[in-house]
Amino acid sequence: MAEVVIVPDAATAGAIVADEIARLVHANPDAVLGLATGSTPVPVYEALPARLAGVDMSRVRGFALDEYVGLDPSHPESYRSVITREVVEPLGLDPARVHVPDGSLEGIEHAGDSYERALAEAGGVDLQILGIGTDGHIGFNEPGSSFASLTRVKTLTTQTREDNARFFDSIDDVPRHCITQGLGTILRARHLVLLAFGEGKAAAVAGALEGPVTASLPGSAIQLHPHATVVVDEAAASTLRFAEYYRYTFANKPAWQGL
Ligand code: PGA
Repeated sequence: MAEVVIVPDAATAGAIVADEIARLVHANPDAVLGLATGSTPVPVYEALPARLAGVDMSRVRGFALDEYVGLDPSHPESYRSVITREVVEPLGLDPARVHVPDGSLEGIEHAGDSYERALAEAGGVDLQILGIGTDGHIGFNEPGSSFASLTRVKTLTTQTREDNARFFDSIDDVPRHCITQGLGTILRARHLVLLAFGEGKAAAVAGALEGPVTASLPGSAIQLHPHATVVVDEAAASTLRFAEYYRYTFANKPAWQGL
């Protein structure tokens, strides 16, 4: 099962995950990072530059999970813009090595296949950062998404559009469609690291970790992955049935094991 790490706050989570990413990049300058957007990964991205100062990042590659369909890539809330602002520029990554699914309307029917090809050519993702939606989505795989799904266009739920309206002037500006890595794509990454903060995520986290594996709660796909780490604050962990066991396990973890 996933290793569950319960931390006091998002900054601590960001530090733990940034340490792991720094270890990975130090060991492998060709590392392939799976990048998430939204509020959740921000503490990781904020903690990374200090840990990677002086490290040659020119060969590191990145793949975003998803993108809005029909939103101009230059829009400040396109995930291309967000990844450029939050990851590429602060870390000094080569923009040509950082991929975001192409959400332009022209050629959208081929964009998923192209993205899968690019992922395969890069040798797959070493470490995939994930958030989880209040409706249980990972990437933009909304409830009902197949566990075998690959990168394709999806329709956002009303819940997700409401959740993301805070990034736009009004909910009417939130696109209705997205292009997202599938659950099958995400499960191919060699290490999944899911983060969640706040009470609003508690039900999705408990369902994903301790509920049945079901397409109705796409985050439950992580139960199928052989190397998954879930880092949550106390509020997001507040309804976990086995929280004491997770705390005990982490407190007694051998130092050699890493995340
Ligand atoms: P958030 O979104 O990080 O902005 O809460 C998480 C998600 O939708 O995956």
